[in-house]
Amino acid sequence: MPSEYGDHLDFRDARITGFTAKEERYYPRPPREASASLPGAPAVFLGRDHELDQVMRVLDPNAVDTGTEARDPYLAVCVVSGREGLGKSALALRAAHQAVANNWFPGGVFYLDLHRPGTEPLSDDQAVRILLSYLGVVDDEISGLTTAWDGHYHTCLAQRPGPALLLLDNAVQAEQIERLRPGVAHHRVLVTSRSGLADLEAHAILLRPLSTSDSLSLLVTLLSMGVDGENRTVQEPDAASSLVDLCEGVPLNIRRAAAGLRQRRDVTIAEYVKLLVENRAAYEARLRAEVPATRTGWLQRLGGPRLWRRGQ
Ligand SMILES: Nc1ncnc2c1ncn2[C@@H]1O[C@H](COP(=O)(O)OP(=O)(O)OP(=O)(O)O)[C@@H](O)[C@H]1O
Ligand SMILES: [Mg+2]
Repeated sequence: MPSEYGDHLDFRDARITGFTAKEERYYPRPPREASASLPGAPAVFLGRDHELDQVMRVLDPNAVDTGTEARDPYLAVCVVSGREGLGKSALALRAAHQAVANNWFPGGVFYLDLHRPGTEPLSDDQAVRILLSYLGVVDDEISGLTTAWDGHYHTCLAQRPGPALLLLDNAVQAEQIERLRPGVAHHRVLVTSRSGLADLEAHAILLRPLSTSDSLSLLVTLLSMGVDGENRTVQEPDAASSLVDLCEGVPLNIRRAAAGLRQRRDVTIAEYVKLLVENRAAYEARLRAEVPATRTGWLQRLGGPRLWRRGQ
């Protein structure tokens, strides 16, 4: 029914107007696809069984009724922290996709990157507005709300048809998460952050470096994915071990090293390790000489993909 016909129920805009309602109330439309904002998880994911299990125990919405530790409201929030490149986002995405496959979140899965590398962090208001749009509120309606976003955000979340998951990547401050924390007990929040967000009431998981064996398996897997699938580590097991040591259990480093090796098929792993050691020594010498540090790390200079190294 066209909206200019006065008193009516217009379900297209999900608004009630005219004498059928004394005031205009807001009834959000459901998002087209509630999990559409969730990026893919890495295809190759090794180790982290214990951490994944911990995250899944917090996410399980059925745990509310089973008397496990997730009954405490603050445990509905899980923070995965650790230094750059340790795999916080990879773990969180892995868990979120597993949860979707388990049908745990009929209310939707909403992903938001709060601080994309190389950009300013999202302001609290921006974060709420983006989540409102994911929840089905269109731009015009959000603008019309002026400042009362939080109330509508929480209303929208409360109206979800079942448990929902918020995946908040790269959080900077605990206050922002507090503001976005749903009021409904069966919803879950999964946060990643380089800082531990120690003042946030949440289940905390601190990522540590991958074990040597998982690191080596990751290197072997990545190197075996080449055109010919040849595993170069078989010919050079000692050099492969040295390379893994250099990567310090940081998956980002292992991926960079594997990418560098795959680009340079003319270079042996031992030669590559030698180059890396020289490269690192030169990098550290520059740091000692107080040449302003760039934001790229030593490992990146050997032709691996461009990735971020904050705080070096
Ligand atoms: N367990 C793992 N197995 C295989 N690859 C992994 C694993 N963990 C992370 N990776 C890969 O390592 C790289 C860095 O991971 P990720 O982006 O998750 O790190 P991060 O801790 O979120 O870093 P940042 O602090 O920059 O956000 C990605 O390419 C990711 O796919
Ligand atoms: Mg990340």
